[in-house]
Amino acid sequence: MNTLYREDVTNELKGKNFLSLKDFSKEEIHTLLDLAIYLKKRYKQGLINHPLKGKTLAMIFEKASTRTRVSFEVGMYQLGGSALFLSKNDIQLSRGESISDTANVLSSYVDGIMIRTFDQGTIDALATHASIPVINGLTDLYHPCQVLADLLTIKERKGTLNGMNIAYIGDGNNMAHSLMIGCAKVGANITVASPNGYEPLNSITEFAQTIAKQENSSVEITNSPLHAAMEADVIYTDVWASMGQEEEQIERELAFRPFQVNENIMNEAKKDAIFMHCLPAHRGEEVSTDVIDGEQSVIFQQSENRLHAQKALLTAIMGELE
Ligand code: CP
Ligand code: NVA
Repeated sequence: MNTLYREDVTNELKGKNFLSLKDFSKEEIHTLLDLAIYLKKRYKQGLINHPLKGKTLAMIFEKASTRTRVSFEVGMYQLGGSALFLSKNDIQLSRGESISDTANVLSSYVDGIMIRTFDQGTIDALATHASIPVINGLTDLYHPCQVLADLLTIKERKGTLNGMNIAYIGDGNNMAHSLMIGCAKVGANITVASPNGYEPLNSITEFAQTIAKQENSSVEITNSPLHAAMEADVIYTDVWASMGQEEEQIERELAFRPFQVNENIMNEAKKDAIFMHCLPAHRGEEVSTDVIDGEQSVIFQQSENRLHAQKALLTAIMGELE
């Protein structure tokens, strides 16, 4: 029995969907992070693991991607499997084939489906009709794969997640939602500062607050970026206009301007605070160039960790550990 990650919990994850962090317990999240640390270390040592030998992941993209596409494709390859990139424009989904038929057909060819789409309902429907695991590669509501990598990064940098103070400053979007749930589950405190009218959805805030209460942590929503940043261990931001909101760019720039993460914000945080961003970033908008390219920024460790965190996820839900 290895002491690096919980094999019993890993075994229980076999066949499970990854639609949102809501469906994963604190223990399961920690197990995935421990497995990611184990796989990352082995990879850096040049040791090979092929728990996904002969397995294939279908990757459906209805929105653009750099990190998600490349890290899943490379991750599958490193684990001994392969990945298929399916742009929505190239498959029959774009010509009206139903989600249920797509799910049934793909289930007979491949071993897992990763999808990036707009509506969370599309992913839920795909998962209902597929007989193989379905992974959320981003929807308008959630981005759980990113948050798995983010929690891994915070754990590596700070040594722990429990009791950490995370300030998310910006749009109450998919990133804010998944971060609130992820932080609440692992006992980290999160304060989200958004302009009036751009706060996270109430239903998700209430869900995260209920979990946080059980973990002795807190989930707070405010309209004050300086208040959120106070004594923070982590300052996090994301773009002001997400994919699909391009037409709102100008009005959003006006509303979000006082929410830029810059030196003033970083000065409110702890001296050893780190700056995080899921990327892609718009320098000079949601974050100043000196902060994102400065010493406190860990953005490339975060993006690297997409690979390691997802390899752990793929191994747990689709693989056979040697
Ligand atoms: N952070 C993230 O998901 O990046 P991509 O949009 O490039 O996949
Ligand atoms: N909120 C951003 C995240 C991109 C990774 C978007 O949805 O476009």
